[in-house]
Amino acid sequence: MPKLLAFAGSIRRNSYNQAILDVAVEGAREAGAEVTVISLEDYAMPIFNEDEESAHGIPERAQAFKELLINHDGFLIASPEYNSSYPALLKNALDWASRKAGDEKVMQAYKGKVAGIMASSAGGLGGLRVLVVLRMLLENMGVIVAPNQKAIAKVSGLLDDNHAISDEKTIKQLKGLGRDTANLCEKVCQ
Ligand SMILES: Cc1cc2nc3c(=O)[nH]c(=O)nc-3n(C[C@H](O)[C@H](O)[C@H](O)COP(=O)(O)O)c2cc1C
Repeated sequence: MPKLLAFAGSIRRNSYNQAILDVAVEGAREAGAEVTVISLEDYAMPIFNEDEESAHGIPERAQAFKELLINHDGFLIASPEYNSSYPALLKNALDWASRKAGDEKVMQAYKGKVAGIMASSAGGLGGLRVLVVLRMLLENMGVIVAPNQKAIAKVSGLLDDNHAISDEKTIKQLKGLGRDTANLCEKVCQ
């Protein structure tokens, strides 16, 4: 079964998107995938600047994040929606990981990988708009994004006291996304 890397585009304490990611991870594991969950907090990296890259190369933690992407078959990504798009935290990490170092192939972190994407928000659209642009971004970099995606609306009402998703219908949907991503990756990941 495939190896998936799971991360959220938020490092907020009690992040909604971390909460939905955790459920999708469970679904992927139940389908047999091996899933590594990371926080972008542990891969803090400067805002991309091509002059800095030319002078000093790719920063250590950006390279470490990229190597994680390279060493997994696919991804589970949960993103907040900021002004109808993805947060700078997520875009910056994905941009650094698109940069080639040494013997790596062009876009090695992305080409031929599969991603399952999800969003959540206290609002009524659940971050649906970020999924449109996140799908486009990932596909432009060579990732096959699973047709199934989930935008969880009014998420603040679906949590228990430990900030975990407790709503049964939502758990079923998110586990389904994790399972579908694992199964798609099993079929197409190189
Ligand atoms: C700069 C900014 C812009 C935001 N724009 C949106 C938006 O367009 N749509 C939305 O549903 N929520 C928006 N929000 C609210 C986020 O959904 C909210 O901060 C959410 O908690 C982020 O997810 P997290 O809990 O995983 O950090 C915005 C928040 C910030 C800080």
